[in-house]
Amino acid sequence: MANLIPEEKVDQVRSAVNIADFVGQYVQLKKAGKNLFGLCPFHEERTPSFSVNEQKQIFHCFSCGRGGNVFSFIMDLENLSFPEAVVKVADFGHIDLPATYTAQSQPATPKDQEQADLLTLYADSTKLYQHVLLNTTAGEAALDYLHQRGLDDETIKTFGIGFAPPKQLLLDFFKEHQIDYQLLRQSGLFIENQAGELRDRFVDRVLFPIKDASGRVIAFSGRILKKSPDEPKYLNSPETKLFNKRSVLFNFDLARGAIRQRKSVVLFEGFMDVIAAYRAGIQNGVASMGTSLTNEQIYMLERVTDQLYICYDSDMPGQKATDRALKLLSGNSRLKLGVLQMPDGMDPDEYLRSAGAEKFVQVFEAGKQTPTAFEMQYLRRDLNLQNTQDQLTYIGAVLQQLSALSSNVEQDLYLNQLVQEFGLDKEDLRQQLRSLVGQQTVHRQPHGGPPTPPPPVNMTPPPPTITGMAPENGPISRVERAERLLLFRLLHDHDVWLRVMAIAGFHFVHDQYQQILVYAEAYFKTHQQFELANFTDFMGDQGLQPVVTSLEFMDVAGETSKEEVADLVNVIMNQQPVAEKINGKKAELTAAKQLGNRDLVQQLTLELIELYRQAQRVQQADNL
Ligand code: CTP
Ligand code: MN
Repeated sequence: MANLIPEEKVDQVRSAVNIADFVGQYVQLKKAGKNLFGLCPFHEERTPSFSVNEQKQIFHCFSCGRGGNVFSFIMDLENLSFPEAVVKVADFGHIDLPATYTAQSQPATPKDQEQADLLTLYADSTKLYQHVLLNTTAGEAALDYLHQRGLDDETIKTFGIGFAPPKQLLLDFFKEHQIDYQLLRQSGLFIENQAGELRDRFVDRVLFPIKDASGRVIAFSGRILKKSPDEPKYLNSPETKLFNKRSVLFNFDLARGAIRQRKSVVLFEGFMDVIAAYRAGIQNGVASMGTSLTNEQIYMLERVTDQLYICYDSDMPGQKATDRALKLLSGNSRLKLGVLQMPDGMDPDEYLRSAGAEKFVQVFEAGKQTPTAFEMQYLRRDLNLQNTQDQLTYIGAVLQQLSALSSNVEQDLYLNQLVQEFGLDKEDLRQQLRSLVGQQTVHRQPHGGPPTPPPPVNMTPPPPTITGMAPENGPISRVERAERLLLFRLLHDHDVWLRVMAIAGFHFVHDQYQQILVYAEAYFKTHQQFELANFTDFMGDQGLQPVVTSLEFMDVAGETSKEEVADLVNVIMNQQPVAEKINGKKAELTAAKQLGNRDLVQQLTLELIELYRQAQRVQQADNL
């Protein structure tokens, strides 16, 4: 796609926004040496191999090979076009772009047309449903309902909430606009009967849009107005090309900023809880899609924070769910965990409405429990602690719990509680605890253990492939190593550039490096200085960006020398010693002459001449 935003403007945006800050919205970065490291957002991993170099304003993943500048980052991550990426980064940096650019690039243009069409369908449906809710008599009852639940119109707009009236709405609307039937079928917005006829999936329900990480609506969840025994309270969109409920968190798009600011995320059970908290100023809340947390969701959260609070309903099912979530998370993630509980078995939304915002916020400020404190309380649920048998069960279970803690101080704290509550001897308890710890040295998975140290900074990157997506993990050949280093020198040292480009017919062996060289030639015609982040934009070629970026993460000496360059050129051009090739060709030529094959003789002669030329170039390179 043509870049319609002038280069100066693009440069201005790129230089105003620090890539570390921008990427930091999606990846939690920690300094290691001269680079920043984090978990790669493009694939699942446990140890950080994603790196950002602030000085050069580029990123590179040592594991998947992706790399580029701030624009390529967001293009890859969210499937955006280049102008869209520029607009997004400008937005982040509060840089005003003239309306013409933004207007051109505003409509989402993901590479996949069907996906784009579905997104448009959802965007239109969201508007239509909201219009019904806010501006029509058909929406009055639903609007009253929401107002009664404490949602004002501003909140309704922030979350894009709408209403699907009791009779069909979407089908006629889209038919009128001549939307393709197959697209409607794919959308999940309709139910299809045996005869292939469609009807609206959502009728007579308040609709909560489900958005992806960039805030685009990809599904709906519809809440019934009045409880009914025959119908589910919430009805969700089915899975579609856009919507995979395992990898979506409700409100993640809006919460991300607050998560970073507060350095923590709050996980709620329901949409209404997230919205209630949001209204009270707790804006770092998300909810999974009516099921227990998935690994995909954990990955999303791990990338933006290392502290998670579970704030489920405080009734018994909510406590059970909390216990399950704690166990799942402590075994599956590096997140530090905490629990928040509303008083009196209420869910957060109920508590806010009954107690008011001030008390509600207080729970978030003062009511944090450690996982151990929660578990100790949870263990008591079915026990009668007046009863000695139950007391022993309880103490045993608590000690078991404590044995998994990595902090002695924390262990001590809870031991003291047991001592106080049951009048026990602390030394006895400690001894029991020690024997339990001994039993389970193997699978100790403490809550919030120390983070895995980042990889050494000097690691050699794997060789990139042409696509830059999946580098082979084999060792890289001597020739390719030479090519990578020489290309690096060529780009950064203009003297080297001038000398090497003077060698007649110099070219790289591997196509990807040669392509970059060709781009560089054009680049130097209009740019005095080489600046990587700018060069990647200049190339535009998405496949080559990771290749050129990976060069910057090689461990190379700062200075080059004539000898180094000459050696590199030799290795590259001499891939097969020319002398050997010449001898082979001569032998072929003799044979062809003996056979009297004149055509072949002519062809071989030409090839031989070309080899002599090559030999001459090698000679030149040697003399550099
Ligand atoms: N849920 C669902 N399908 C249902 C019931 C619940 O998908 N039939 C999901 C919804 O995502 C809901 C969450 O589970 O937000 C929590 O359920 P619940 O606690 O029952 O909902 P609340 O958030 O309390 O909803 P409300 O306050 O509107 O009753
Ligand atoms: Mn509720």
